[in-house]
Amino acid sequence: MSDLVDRLLASMTLEEKLGQLNMIDAGTPPYDEAEMERQIAAGRIGSLLNIRDPERLNRWQAMALGSRLKIPLIFGLDVLHGHYTIYPLPIAEACAFDPELWERTAKISVEETGRDGITMTFAPMLDVCRDPRWGRIAECPGEDAYVASRFAEAKIRGYQGTDLSRRESIAATAKHLGAYGAVEAGRDYGSVNVSERQLAETYLPPFEAAVKAGVSSIMPAFNDVAGIPMTAHGDLLNDLVRETWGFEGVMVSDYTAVAELIAHGIADDLTHAASIALMAGVDIDMQDQAYVQGLPKALERGLVTMADIDRAVRRVLTLKAKLGLFDEPYRRVSAPPLSETQVKEFTALARDSARRSVVLLKNDNNTLPITSKNKKIALIGPLADAPLEMFGCWFAAAPLESVTILHGLKTALPNADIRHVKGVEIEGGDTNGIAEAVALAKASDTIVLSLGETKDMTGEAHSRGRIELPGHQRALAEAIFALGKPVIVVLSHGRPVAAPWLFERAEAVVSSWFLGSEAGHGIADVMTGKWNPSAKLCVTWPYDGGQIPIFHSQRSTGRPANPEVYFSTRHVDLPIEPQFPFGHGLSYTRYALSNLKVPSEFTEGDTVTVAVDVSNEGSVAGEETLFLFLRDPVASIARPVLELKGFAKATLKSGERKTVCFTLKPADFEFLDKNLQPRFESGAFEVSVGQSADRTKLLTAKVQGNAR
Ligand code: GLC
Repeated sequence: MSDLVDRLLASMTLEEKLGQLNMIDAGTPPYDEAEMERQIAAGRIGSLLNIRDPERLNRWQAMALGSRLKIPLIFGLDVLHGHYTIYPLPIAEACAFDPELWERTAKISVEETGRDGITMTFAPMLDVCRDPRWGRIAECPGEDAYVASRFAEAKIRGYQGTDLSRRESIAATAKHLGAYGAVEAGRDYGSVNVSERQLAETYLPPFEAAVKAGVSSIMPAFNDVAGIPMTAHGDLLNDLVRETWGFEGVMVSDYTAVAELIAHGIADDLTHAASIALMAGVDIDMQDQAYVQGLPKALERGLVTMADIDRAVRRVLTLKAKLGLFDEPYRRVSAPPLSETQVKEFTALARDSARRSVVLLKNDNNTLPITSKNKKIALIGPLADAPLEMFGCWFAAAPLESVTILHGLKTALPNADIRHVKGVEIEGGDTNGIAEAVALAKASDTIVLSLGETKDMTGEAHSRGRIELPGHQRALAEAIFALGKPVIVVLSHGRPVAAPWLFERAEAVVSSWFLGSEAGHGIADVMTGKWNPSAKLCVTWPYDGGQIPIFHSQRSTGRPANPEVYFSTRHVDLPIEPQFPFGHGLSYTRYALSNLKVPSEFTEGDTVTVAVDVSNEGSVAGEETLFLFLRDPVASIARPVLELKGFAKATLKSGERKTVCFTLKPADFEFLDKNLQPRFESGAFEVSVGQSADRTKLLTAKVQGNAR
């Protein structure tokens, strides 16, 4: 492979070299197709993004192969949660706490996206986020670095497989490095002012996990971190990611992010911006042609050398060779059409991932599951019959229709008389439809309210200062609650929605996020008990936006939050606790933990095994997720009150008991000292296992750690 790359490099003109660093959006109008084709034919474009039409894609690949050096194009697309078959949003799927599922949906997505000629996905998105105001929380795997790291590994295995050149593999891109989920006030593209410690402890580990998992590409984030835009952050991109972590892949900028260094205020023109980004380690320049236009002048001005350019070109050519593009550029797009069996398999997986991502938040008086006795069901609200909304943000291709909640319930309850009225719009509109909704609710024995957000209220450039239910939905809900009858609420949403009044008055609440193609069936499977809900929140659910940031791994402070103590860490006008803690999720059965076994002491460098019994004390089988937390209550750096170190599942029949084991590795007992170096300090540690991060319900044991 390197011989081929060396030969190509030795024969490339400067224009052809810069062409390999140039990625152009060929799917978002307006663009000059004739000019783009001229550039492809001249070898001045190395990759294209956002194409969803294999015929055009093949035509442009043929043009590239007809250029002087016949270097094939890479085709990139944001395949975050499916291509034509759409799976749950990443934040939803993360709630399944199931790396095997995470890998399967990524792997299956490649079967569809590869046949459209896509060879690179801009996924997985690994931005830890604790701020639901940020619209892109919907694309992330939640608030915890440990979960995001496992998510990274699973997704990269799924997208890339074990051999990148195979038809079933495409290049994954870990994005957006780094701390993008911590933008000020949740404002997208905003500045980030996290400490070096927070970077090292929270925002970087998922990317290190991605590098260790062999990710092919990394995308720096739009944001600056403490004044250094990530696209220009050589200390992180080069020194940490490449030198320390050993990343040998390609860094691809985010969309026009190189040119945006001018707006950031660190470059005075495109030449300067291009030279800063290249020297920081960014190989491919997405969409703004900063490299093609700026680097020739940068060379003349001595801002970069030809060796700097060659280094980037070599990485890009090496990735193309690893993808097998020089051998068989049409390998993926020429795959035989999907068989009916495969399509059925994808649909079944979409349904399975959907129901495994539904979180049962509340279920008083066992209101759920709905059984056949429920004859007359009022399904009220703007998201009950909303096929496009169920896809959420960033669905890659033009998916088929999704299964709506209305269709899912009708299919699951064929003998029930299910009537639907919208009542109000998701946003805007008026309240004229509420009377009809109230009348229907009065005449029904089961009331289901379907409320939430539009698919476009989260995703890129969709941050919201207010995270309540939009529009007149509260007016609708309160009119229905006023009837005094039990109400089941199904939320469709991309972020946790602050609605304490709703959680107070509804009998049952289901968080269904946006579940994709099989949303309605997945939700109905849970609501009718065909699937015993097993998902748990991967983010803390705030009671009110004013609590943000609120998450499970905060430090205690010198005046730990205590509602009984006036002078303690809290808001006087809001509860201390969130609406729901990280890991919250109910079931139709009841699980009990007992018999926590932890050695009384260990020596630095030992591996510690933790065992706990979990039993199903209810009447239906189910799947429980347990969380392993660690706390170092006294250390030279104050440690979080809980640090997640593992999660595991137990599938239990009614009455069954199992022992679940966890392993704490030596590194789990270390933390970053004041110089951000890993350090072990002897002393007592608290090992806890729980069904969520609710600290009042953990099983905890102390273990003495002794230095060597
Ligand atoms: C967007 C997003 C990034 C995406 C890229 C290409 O601006 O920030 O996540 O991969 O452009 O679509």
